[in-house]
Amino acid sequence: MGIFDRVARPAILAASRSQRLRATAERLPVTRRVVDRFVAGETVPEALDVTATLRSSGRMVTIDYLGEDTTSKEDADHTVEAYLALLDGLKDTADGSKVRPLEVSLKLSALGQALPRDGEKIALENAHTICAGARDAGVWVTVDAEDHTTTDSTLSIVRDLRTEFDWLGTVLQAYLKRTRADCAEFAAAGARIRLCKGAYDEPASVAYRDPDEVTDSYLTCLRILMAGRGYPMVASHDPEIIAAVPSLAREYNRGVDDFEYQMLYNIRDGEQRRLADAGNHVRVYVPFGYEWYGYFVRRLAERPANLTFFLRALAERR
Ligand code: FDA
Repeated sequence: MGIFDRVARPAILAASRSQRLRATAERLPVTRRVVDRFVAGETVPEALDVTATLRSSGRMVTIDYLGEDTTSKEDADHTVEAYLALLDGLKDTADGSKVRPLEVSLKLSALGQALPRDGEKIALENAHTICAGARDAGVWVTVDAEDHTTTDSTLSIVRDLRTEFDWLGTVLQAYLKRTRADCAEFAAAGARIRLCKGAYDEPASVAYRDPDEVTDSYLTCLRILMAGRGYPMVASHDPEIIAAVPSLAREYNRGVDDFEYQMLYNIRDGEQRRLADAGNHVRVYVPFGYEWYGYFVRRLAERPANLTFFLRALAERR
Protein backbone atom coordinates (compact mmCIF):
# COMPACT_ATOMS: atom_id res chain seq x y z
CA MET A 1 0.00 0.00 0.00
CA GLY A 2 1.39 3.46 -0.93
CA ILE A 3 1.64 6.49 1.34
CA PHE A 4 -1.50 8.01 -0.20
CA ASP A 5 -3.60 4.94 0.73
CA ARG A 6 -2.05 4.59 4.19
CA VAL A 7 -1.89 8.20 5.36
CA ALA A 8 -3.63 10.74 3.16
CA ARG A 9 -6.78 8.77 2.36
CA PRO A 10 -7.90 8.12 5.97
CA ALA A 11 -7.13 11.77 6.89
CA ILE A 12 -9.14 13.14 3.97
CA LEU A 13 -12.04 10.78 4.73
CA ALA A 14 -12.00 11.92 8.39
CA ALA A 15 -12.28 15.49 7.05
CA SER A 16 -15.40 14.48 5.13
CA ARG A 17 -17.17 14.11 8.50
CA SER A 18 -15.96 17.45 9.97
CA GLN A 19 -18.67 20.10 10.29
CA ARG A 20 -16.05 22.82 10.82
CA LEU A 21 -14.09 22.03 7.64
CA ARG A 22 -17.34 21.70 5.79
CA ALA A 23 -18.45 25.20 6.82
CA THR A 24 -15.07 26.64 5.80
CA ALA A 25 -14.98 24.84 2.44
CA GLU A 26 -18.52 25.89 1.59
CA ARG A 27 -17.57 29.57 2.09
CA LEU A 28 -14.60 29.49 -0.29
CA PRO A 29 -15.56 30.60 -3.81
CA VAL A 30 -12.62 28.64 -5.20
CA THR A 31 -13.99 25.36 -3.82
CA ARG A 32 -17.21 25.86 -5.75
CA ARG A 33 -15.24 26.12 -8.99
CA VAL A 34 -13.47 22.82 -8.29
CA VAL A 35 -16.67 21.17 -7.07
CA ASP A 36 -18.33 21.94 -10.41
CA ARG A 37 -16.07 19.32 -11.95
CA PHE A 38 -17.84 16.60 -9.96
CA VAL A 39 -21.31 18.02 -9.30
CA ALA A 40 -23.96 18.86 -11.92
CA GLY A 41 -25.22 22.12 -10.38
CA GLU A 42 -27.50 22.85 -7.48
CA THR A 43 -31.03 22.85 -8.93
CA VAL A 44 -33.41 20.41 -10.66
CA PRO A 45 -33.24 22.33 -14.01
CA GLU A 46 -29.42 22.11 -13.93
CA ALA A 47 -29.56 18.35 -13.23
CA LEU A 48 -32.11 17.91 -16.07
CA ASP A 49 -29.83 19.83 -18.49
CA VAL A 50 -26.87 17.55 -17.71
CA THR A 51 -29.18 14.53 -18.05
CA ALA A 52 -30.33 15.66 -21.50
CA THR A 53 -26.71 16.13 -22.64
CA LEU A 54 -25.67 12.69 -21.38
CA ARG A 55 -28.73 11.04 -22.94
CA SER A 56 -27.96 12.66 -26.29
CA SER A 57 -24.55 10.95 -26.22
CA GLY A 58 -26.20 7.53 -25.75
CA ARG A 59 -25.59 7.24 -22.00
CA MET A 60 -28.14 6.53 -19.27
CA VAL A 61 -28.19 8.37 -15.93
CA THR A 62 -28.79 7.92 -12.25
CA ILE A 63 -29.35 11.19 -10.40
CA ASP A 64 -28.48 11.73 -6.76
CA TYR A 65 -29.81 14.64 -4.73
CA LEU A 66 -26.82 15.38 -2.52
CA GLY A 67 -27.20 15.12 1.24
CA GLU A 68 -26.33 12.64 3.98
CA ASP A 69 -26.34 12.16 7.75
CA THR A 70 -29.56 14.12 8.17
CA THR A 71 -30.16 15.14 11.77
CA SER A 72 -33.76 16.35 11.62
CA LYS A 73 -37.07 15.02 10.37
CA GLU A 74 -37.64 18.33 8.52
CA ASP A 75 -34.42 17.88 6.51
CA ALA A 76 -35.46 14.32 5.62
CA ASP A 77 -38.88 15.63 4.49
CA HIS A 78 -37.12 18.27 2.41
CA THR A 79 -35.06 15.55 0.70
CA VAL A 80 -38.23 13.61 -0.18
CA GLU A 81 -39.75 16.76 -1.70
CA ALA A 82 -36.58 17.38 -3.73
CA TYR A 83 -36.75 13.82 -5.14
CA LEU A 84 -40.45 14.17 -5.99
CA ALA A 85 -39.71 17.45 -7.84
CA LEU A 86 -36.86 15.73 -9.70
CA LEU A 87 -39.08 12.75 -10.65
CA ASP A 88 -41.72 15.16 -11.89
CA GLY A 89 -39.10 16.73 -14.16
CA LEU A 90 -37.93 13.32 -15.42
CA LYS A 91 -41.33 11.77 -16.20
CA ASP A 92 -41.70 13.35 -19.65
CA THR A 93 -38.48 11.81 -20.91
CA ALA A 94 -38.82 8.40 -19.20
CA ASP A 95 -39.38 5.41 -21.45
CA GLY A 96 -40.51 1.87 -20.61
CA SER A 97 -37.56 -0.04 -22.08
CA LYS A 98 -36.46 -3.23 -20.36
CA VAL A 99 -33.44 -1.33 -19.07
CA ARG A 100 -34.78 1.98 -17.80
CA PRO A 101 -32.53 4.81 -18.98
CA LEU A 102 -33.45 7.07 -16.06
CA GLU A 103 -32.81 6.24 -12.43
CA VAL A 104 -32.44 8.09 -9.12
CA SER A 105 -30.00 7.11 -6.37
CA LEU A 106 -30.84 7.59 -2.69
CA LYS A 107 -28.87 7.72 0.54
CA LEU A 108 -31.00 6.41 3.41
CA SER A 109 -29.05 8.60 5.86
CA ALA A 110 -30.48 11.61 3.98
CA LEU A 111 -33.97 10.18 4.53
CA GLY A 112 -33.66 9.98 8.32
CA GLN A 113 -32.06 6.54 8.90
CA ALA A 114 -29.84 7.85 11.75
CA LEU A 115 -32.52 9.83 13.58
CA PRO A 116 -32.51 8.74 17.23
CA ARG A 117 -36.20 7.88 17.37
CA ASP A 118 -37.62 5.52 14.72
CA GLY A 119 -34.88 6.44 12.21
CA GLU A 120 -35.11 3.18 10.30
CA LYS A 121 -38.91 3.34 10.10
CA ILE A 122 -38.82 6.98 8.93
CA ALA A 123 -36.21 6.18 6.25
CA LEU A 124 -38.29 3.21 5.06
CA GLU A 125 -41.44 5.35 4.76
CA ASN A 126 -39.56 8.13 2.97
CA ALA A 127 -37.89 5.70 0.57
CA HIS A 128 -41.31 4.10 -0.05
CA THR A 129 -42.76 7.52 -1.02
CA ILE A 130 -39.90 8.09 -3.47
CA CYS A 131 -40.21 4.56 -4.95
CA ALA A 132 -43.94 5.09 -5.50
CA GLY A 133 -43.19 8.42 -7.25
CA ALA A 134 -40.48 6.74 -9.35
CA ARG A 135 -42.84 3.93 -10.39
CA ASP A 136 -45.40 6.52 -11.56
CA ALA A 137 -42.70 8.41 -13.47
CA GLY A 138 -41.25 5.27 -15.13
CA VAL A 139 -37.91 5.74 -13.37
CA TRP A 140 -35.81 3.18 -11.46
CA VAL A 141 -34.35 3.66 -7.95
CA THR A 142 -31.08 2.38 -6.45
CA VAL A 143 -30.17 2.73 -2.77
CA ASP A 144 -26.57 3.84 -2.14
CA ALA A 145 -24.26 2.12 0.37
CA GLU A 146 -22.82 4.21 3.21
CA ASP A 147 -20.47 3.29 6.05
CA HIS A 148 -20.52 -0.31 7.31
CA THR A 149 -22.46 0.48 10.50
CA THR A 150 -25.50 1.16 8.28
CA THR A 151 -25.29 -1.92 6.02
CA ASP A 152 -27.61 -4.24 7.99
CA SER A 153 -30.26 -1.55 8.35
CA THR A 154 -29.98 -0.49 4.69
CA LEU A 155 -30.25 -4.03 3.33
CA SER A 156 -33.20 -4.76 5.58
CA ILE A 157 -35.02 -1.67 4.25
CA VAL A 158 -34.16 -2.71 0.68
CA ARG A 159 -35.52 -6.27 1.23
CA ASP A 160 -38.71 -4.77 2.61
CA LEU A 161 -39.19 -2.35 -0.31
CA ARG A 162 -38.37 -5.00 -2.90
CA THR A 163 -41.49 -6.97 -1.92
CA GLU A 164 -43.48 -4.14 -3.56
CA PHE A 165 -40.90 -2.62 -5.98
CA ASP A 166 -39.01 -5.59 -7.40
CA TRP A 167 -36.99 -3.32 -9.72
CA LEU A 168 -35.40 -1.54 -6.73
CA GLY A 169 -31.62 -1.92 -6.76
CA THR A 170 -28.98 -1.45 -4.12
CA VAL A 171 -25.23 -0.89 -3.86
CA LEU A 172 -22.84 -3.47 -2.42
CA GLN A 173 -19.24 -2.52 -1.56
CA ALA A 174 -16.53 -5.03 -2.56
CA TYR A 175 -14.14 -3.84 0.17
CA LEU A 176 -16.44 -5.27 2.87
CA LYS A 177 -15.68 -8.88 3.81
CA ARG A 178 -19.39 -9.64 4.12
CA THR A 179 -20.17 -8.63 0.52
CA ARG A 180 -19.65 -12.02 -1.15
CA ALA A 181 -22.49 -13.41 0.94
CA ASP A 182 -24.67 -10.34 0.26
CA CYS A 183 -23.99 -10.71 -3.50
CA ALA A 184 -25.04 -14.38 -3.34
CA GLU A 185 -28.28 -13.49 -1.52
CA PHE A 186 -29.30 -10.63 -3.82
CA ALA A 187 -28.18 -12.42 -7.01
CA ALA A 188 -30.40 -15.38 -6.06
CA ALA A 189 -33.30 -12.98 -5.46
CA GLY A 190 -32.86 -11.53 -8.98
CA ALA A 191 -32.03 -8.02 -7.77
CA ARG A 192 -30.31 -5.18 -9.58
CA ILE A 193 -26.97 -4.75 -7.78
CA ARG A 194 -24.53 -1.90 -8.26
CA LEU A 195 -21.15 -3.27 -7.27
CA CYS A 196 -18.55 -0.66 -6.26
CA LYS A 197 -15.24 -0.85 -4.39
CA GLY A 198 -16.44 1.31 -1.46
CA ALA A 199 -15.58 4.91 -0.57
CA TYR A 200 -15.48 5.11 3.26
CA ASP A 201 -12.58 4.59 5.68
CA GLU A 202 -13.44 1.18 7.14
CA PRO A 203 -11.53 -0.81 9.81
CA ALA A 204 -9.55 -3.94 8.87
CA SER A 205 -11.93 -5.99 11.05
CA VAL A 206 -14.69 -5.60 8.45
CA ALA A 207 -12.97 -4.49 5.24
CA TYR A 208 -10.02 -5.23 2.95
CA ARG A 209 -7.73 -2.23 3.05
CA ASP A 210 -5.11 -3.22 0.52
CA PRO A 211 -6.08 -1.94 -2.99
CA ASP A 212 -5.15 -5.25 -4.67
CA GLU A 213 -7.25 -7.23 -2.20
CA VAL A 214 -10.18 -4.89 -2.88
CA THR A 215 -9.85 -5.46 -6.64
CA ASP A 216 -9.68 -9.26 -6.10
CA SER A 217 -12.78 -9.13 -3.93
CA TYR A 218 -14.53 -6.98 -6.56
CA LEU A 219 -13.81 -9.54 -9.31
CA THR A 220 -15.00 -12.43 -7.10
CA CYS A 221 -18.22 -10.58 -6.23
CA LEU A 222 -18.79 -9.63 -9.87
CA ARG A 223 -18.53 -13.27 -10.90
CA ILE A 224 -21.20 -14.18 -8.30
CA LEU A 225 -23.49 -11.46 -9.69
CA MET A 226 -22.87 -12.44 -13.33
CA ALA A 227 -23.60 -16.09 -12.49
CA GLY A 228 -26.82 -15.19 -10.66
CA ARG A 229 -30.36 -14.24 -11.68
CA GLY A 230 -30.11 -10.50 -11.13
CA TYR A 231 -28.87 -7.49 -13.09
CA PRO A 232 -25.23 -6.57 -12.33
CA MET A 233 -24.26 -2.89 -12.50
CA VAL A 234 -20.48 -2.65 -12.79
CA ALA A 235 -19.71 0.65 -11.02
CA SER A 236 -15.98 1.21 -11.46
CA HIS A 237 -13.47 3.30 -13.40
CA ASP A 238 -10.73 0.73 -12.89
CA PRO A 239 -9.33 -0.49 -16.25
CA GLU A 240 -8.58 -3.95 -14.79
CA ILE A 241 -12.22 -4.41 -13.76
CA ILE A 242 -13.65 -3.01 -16.99
CA ALA A 243 -11.39 -5.31 -19.03
CA ALA A 244 -12.68 -8.35 -17.12
CA VAL A 245 -16.35 -7.70 -17.92
CA PRO A 246 -16.75 -8.91 -21.57
CA SER A 247 -15.37 -12.39 -20.90
CA LEU A 248 -17.44 -12.78 -17.71
CA ALA A 249 -20.57 -11.68 -19.60
CA ARG A 250 -19.82 -14.21 -22.36
CA GLU A 251 -19.17 -16.97 -19.85
CA TYR A 252 -22.59 -16.45 -18.25
CA ASN A 253 -24.45 -15.80 -21.53
CA ARG A 254 -25.28 -12.21 -20.73
CA GLY A 255 -26.20 -9.95 -23.65
CA VAL A 256 -26.03 -6.13 -23.60
CA ASP A 257 -29.43 -5.88 -21.87
CA ASP A 258 -28.33 -8.13 -19.01
CA PHE A 259 -25.76 -5.89 -17.26
CA GLU A 260 -24.48 -2.33 -17.38
CA TYR A 261 -21.38 -0.24 -16.72
CA GLN A 262 -21.59 2.74 -14.39
CA MET A 263 -19.23 5.64 -13.74
CA LEU A 264 -19.34 8.96 -11.93
CA TYR A 265 -20.15 12.25 -13.65
CA ASN A 266 -17.08 13.70 -15.40
CA ILE A 267 -14.77 10.86 -14.37
CA ARG A 268 -13.20 9.00 -17.32
CA ASP A 269 -15.71 10.63 -19.67
CA GLY A 270 -13.84 9.34 -22.75
CA GLU A 271 -14.03 5.76 -21.45
CA GLN A 272 -17.76 6.18 -20.77
CA ARG A 273 -18.28 7.28 -24.40
CA ARG A 274 -16.10 4.48 -25.75
CA LEU A 275 -18.14 1.83 -23.92
CA ALA A 276 -21.46 3.40 -24.96
CA ASP A 277 -20.35 3.76 -28.60
CA ALA A 278 -19.47 0.06 -28.57
CA GLY A 279 -23.15 -0.70 -27.86
CA ASN A 280 -23.00 -1.25 -24.09
CA HIS A 281 -25.37 0.23 -21.53
CA VAL A 282 -23.43 2.90 -19.63
CA ARG A 283 -25.03 4.82 -16.77
CA VAL A 284 -23.55 8.00 -15.33
CA TYR A 285 -24.04 8.87 -11.65
CA VAL A 286 -25.02 12.55 -11.64
CA PRO A 287 -25.01 14.27 -8.23
CA PHE A 288 -26.63 17.67 -7.80
CA GLY A 289 -27.75 19.90 -4.94
CA TYR A 290 -26.35 22.18 -2.26
CA GLU A 291 -24.85 19.60 0.09
CA TRP A 292 -21.85 18.64 -2.00
CA TYR A 293 -19.20 18.54 0.73
CA GLY A 294 -19.21 14.81 1.71
CA TYR A 295 -19.43 13.62 -1.91
CA PHE A 296 -16.68 16.01 -3.02
CA VAL A 297 -14.24 15.05 -0.26
CA ARG A 298 -14.71 11.31 -0.98
CA ARG A 299 -13.73 12.00 -4.62
CA LEU A 300 -10.58 13.81 -3.41
CA ALA A 301 -9.69 10.79 -1.28
CA GLU A 302 -9.92 8.41 -4.26
CA ARG A 303 -7.08 9.83 -6.27
CA PRO A 304 -3.93 11.83 -5.50
CA ALA A 305 -4.43 13.79 -8.75
CA ASN A 306 -7.82 15.09 -7.57
CA LEU A 307 -6.29 16.37 -4.36
CA THR A 308 -3.48 18.03 -6.32
CA PHE A 309 -6.05 19.65 -8.63
CA PHE A 310 -7.89 21.04 -5.61
CA LEU A 311 -4.74 22.28 -3.85
CA ARG A 312 -3.49 23.92 -7.04
CA ALA A 313 -6.80 25.78 -7.39
CA LEU A 314 -6.45 26.97 -3.79
CA ALA A 315 -2.87 28.14 -4.42
CA GLU A 316 -3.83 29.97 -7.63
CA ARG A 317 -6.29 31.98 -5.63
CA ARG A 318 -3.48 33.82 -3.84
P1 FDA B 1 -10.05 3.03 -8.37
O1 FDA B 1 -10.30 3.96 -7.24
O2 FDA B 1 -8.98 2.00 -8.23
O3 FDA B 1 -9.77 3.89 -9.68
C1 FDA B 1 -9.32 3.34 -10.89
C2 FDA B 1 -9.04 4.48 -11.85
O4 FDA B 1 -10.24 5.19 -12.12
C3 FDA B 1 -8.08 5.53 -11.33
O5 FDA B 1 -6.75 5.19 -11.57
C4 FDA B 1 -8.51 6.74 -12.10
O6 FDA B 1 -8.03 6.71 -13.41
C5 FDA B 1 -10.00 6.59 -12.17
N1 FDA B 1 -10.68 7.22 -11.01
C6 FDA B 1 -11.23 6.61 -9.95
N2 FDA B 1 -11.78 7.49 -9.08
C7 FDA B 1 -11.53 8.69 -9.60
C8 FDA B 1 -11.83 10.00 -9.17
N3 FDA B 1 -12.48 10.25 -8.03
N4 FDA B 1 -11.44 11.01 -9.95
C9 FDA B 1 -10.78 10.80 -11.12
N5 FDA B 1 -10.46 9.57 -11.58
C10 FDA B 1 -10.83 8.54 -10.84
N6 FDA B 1 -19.11 4.07 -3.01
C11 FDA B 1 -19.78 3.78 -1.87
O7 FDA B 1 -19.15 3.52 -0.82
N7 FDA B 1 -21.15 3.75 -1.86
C12 FDA B 1 -21.87 3.98 -2.98
O8 FDA B 1 -23.12 3.95 -2.92
C13 FDA B 1 -21.18 4.29 -4.19
N8 FDA B 1 -21.87 4.52 -5.34
C14 FDA B 1 -21.17 4.60 -6.52
C15 FDA B 1 -21.85 4.67 -7.73
C16 FDA B 1 -21.17 4.67 -8.92
C17 FDA B 1 -21.93 4.70 -10.21
C18 FDA B 1 -19.73 4.63 -8.93
C19 FDA B 1 -18.95 4.60 -10.20
C20 FDA B 1 -19.05 4.60 -7.73
C21 FDA B 1 -19.74 4.61 -6.53
N9 FDA B 1 -19.07 4.60 -5.32
C22 FDA B 1 -19.78 4.33 -4.16
C23 FDA B 1 -17.61 4.91 -5.25
C24 FDA B 1 -16.76 3.68 -5.30
O9 FDA B 1 -16.91 2.94 -4.12
C25 FDA B 1 -15.26 4.03 -5.46
O10 FDA B 1 -14.83 4.82 -4.38
C26 FDA B 1 -14.94 4.77 -6.75
O11 FDA B 1 -15.70 4.32 -7.82
C27 FDA B 1 -13.44 4.57 -7.11
O12 FDA B 1 -13.17 3.20 -7.31
P2 FDA B 1 -12.90 2.56 -8.76
O13 FDA B 1 -13.57 1.24 -8.82
O14 FDA B 1 -13.31 3.52 -9.80
O15 FDA B 1 -11.35 2.22 -8.80
